[in-house]
Amino acid sequence: MIGIRTIVILIFLLITSLFIVQAMYSVTVGQDSIQQSVGQSSVLLAHDMARFVEFGITVKIDALIDYSKTSLIQNALLKSNQKFSELENVQAYITQQDDDWKSVSDETITPFMQSLISNKVSESIRKNFVEKINPRIGHSVFAEVFITNAYGANIAQSGKTTDYRQDDEDWWHEARKNGINIDKTEYDESAKTDVIPIEIKISDENGNFIGILKAGLSLRSIIREAEIFTQSDISTEVNIITEKGNIIYSTKAFSFKEDISDQSFFNKLQSDQQEGFFVNEGKFKTDLVVYVRPNNLPVLGEQDWIFVIKHQIGKVGILSGMITLRENIIITSAIIVGIALGIGIIFSRGISNPIIKLTYLAKEIGKENFDAEITIKGRGEIAELINNMKDMGTKLKKAKRQKEEFISMITHELKTPLTPIIGFCQALGDPKILGTLTPKQKDAVETISKNANRLQSMIGDLLDSHRLDFHKIKFNFNEVNVVELINSVINNYEKEIKSKKIQVTVDAEPLILITTDKQRIEQVLTNIFVNSIDFVSNNTGKIFVKAKLQNDSVLFTIQDNGTGIPPEEIDRVFDSFSQIDTALTRKHGGAGLGLAICKALVTKLGGKIWVESQLGKGTTFYFTIAQQTEQMDKSK
Ligand SMILES: Nc1ncnc2c1ncn2[C@@H]1O[C@H](COP(=O)(O)OP(=O)(O)OP(=O)(O)O)[C@@H](O)[C@H]1O
Ligand SMILES: [Mg+2]
Repeated sequence: MIGIRTIVILIFLLITSLFIVQAMYSVTVGQDSIQQSVGQSSVLLAHDMARFVEFGITVKIDALIDYSKTSLIQNALLKSNQKFSELENVQAYITQQDDDWKSVSDETITPFMQSLISNKVSESIRKNFVEKINPRIGHSVFAEVFITNAYGANIAQSGKTTDYRQDDEDWWHEARKNGINIDKTEYDESAKTDVIPIEIKISDENGNFIGILKAGLSLRSIIREAEIFTQSDISTEVNIITEKGNIIYSTKAFSFKEDISDQSFFNKLQSDQQEGFFVNEGKFKTDLVVYVRPNNLPVLGEQDWIFVIKHQIGKVGILSGMITLRENIIITSAIIVGIALGIGIIFSRGISNPIIKLTYLAKEIGKENFDAEITIKGRGEIAELINNMKDMGTKLKKAKRQKEEFISMITHELKTPLTPIIGFCQALGDPKILGTLTPKQKDAVETISKNANRLQSMIGDLLDSHRLDFHKIKFNFNEVNVVELINSVINNYEKEIKSKKIQVTVDAEPLILITTDKQRIEQVLTNIFVNSIDFVSNNTGKIFVKAKLQNDSVLFTIQDNGTGIPPEEIDRVFDSFSQIDTALTRKHGGAGLGLAICKALVTKLGGKIWVESQLGKGTTFYFTIAQQTEQMDKSK
């Protein structure tokens, strides 16, 4: 059974654990909802960033269109177109120049090229676009700008271009047809940077086509600008990735168009979703990945880009606060559990100590130790209970003393008149003292004598049981020959044995000597033997008395073939005043004290007593007596 102390401590621990579970649950739920809200706001952030990029590009396009309308450009183009229209074979001229252009090495700049790089228009282009540094990001916005006339031949350029003629390029025709053409991002070899190629159709005041302006818009500068507005946290990483998994831009180190399609998060960017977010558990870190496809924007819609924002989850990431909170909860939980345990122990002591004392007191009273002392502090119900129990003990002690006094008084008062009765009965039996009696008178005197003796023995039993109860019995030790002892008991009942025609058999090892109280052993043996005589039938009754040495004691066995004892009664036979209610018992008489006295005596003489019985078949009593009881008893 679990003690009350353990239960109280367990309850304390259970309650604190519930609180801790609740706290941990709240943190987890909080973490999830933070993740949700960060995810949602990051989607908006990615949209914002895409719009910024889009806006940046359109502003630059507008600047290019405005520039193409300046008189410097218009006049230069009109002039060039005029000149080319006067040529005899314009295509042959362009082809010739283009071949010359491509025939020299990349580094070589021919005088013809130089004339196109250093004319007034080119200088203006460089000044307004290529060399113009964006102060917010520290480098130029355009990597390269050049202009062709209506025939597709270069008239001005910020630096050396790869070709002279451009009308053999798709973009040239697309721009001429649509007014503007934006290509997919590419790496510009001559400018050594990633650019978004933009081509714009140039028309004169009357709307006639006069040329094409091509510009390489530096991707990094555009995105960097957008990023400055949108990036919020060092643990946040912004990436632009193509649908094929080539990296266009990243806030961390990257190489242009590097293939990252094998990375775990890339496969989770569902292609049918315009936006979304998910948690991606990588080998080294866990990220909240947010993605947006800016399909709805006019310029970016043409680029198959995915804006991907990654928030690191963990000690440095967006949930760092939550993680610290969780750690703190774990630490404080441990402290709280410790404190709860401490309080639980103290508290449980407060509850269990009085109960433990109460249990002790109840046990002591049960053992009839009415003097057991316990102290109790406080005034609770348990203290009251203990005080009541103490009162009860005092009352029981008094009642016991009164019982003792009463029994000694009664037995003494009963014994006193018996002495002259028995004495005069003996005198009456002797013709020399009070004369000869008639046979009838003799019978009457014998009946009186027999009953008086019986009464005396019952008073003796009562006294014995009383003395045993109060540990007042005294033993006299002497050497006893077991065989002699058995025979003397049987001889005392010769008359009864003969009249009931009982067959008595003795089986005792000769010369067994024990040092014990002879009179008390005889008393035990006699009581068991007399019971057997009374409970066997006339003529067929058999009693078997055995004694044998066993270790350091003698085992006595008294077996009869009498009525037997019902199994449900067998446990009670050694209790005081217990008799099995049968006609035979009523005839047998007695007070039901015999076996109780036997048990007390045998126990005090260092032995054991027990019984086996089968109803209708017979009963066997066993008891052992230590060979050397004297020493044991003296040491007690
Ligand atoms: N050998 C036996 N066979 C059957 N029943 C027995 C036997 N010995 C004892 N009993 C039962 O056990 C009861 C208790 O026996 P116990 O010797 O204690 O008391 P008693 O003989 O009735 O009275 P007392 O011994 O005080 O004169 C008896 O009344 C009887 O019912
Ligand atoms: Mg008896």
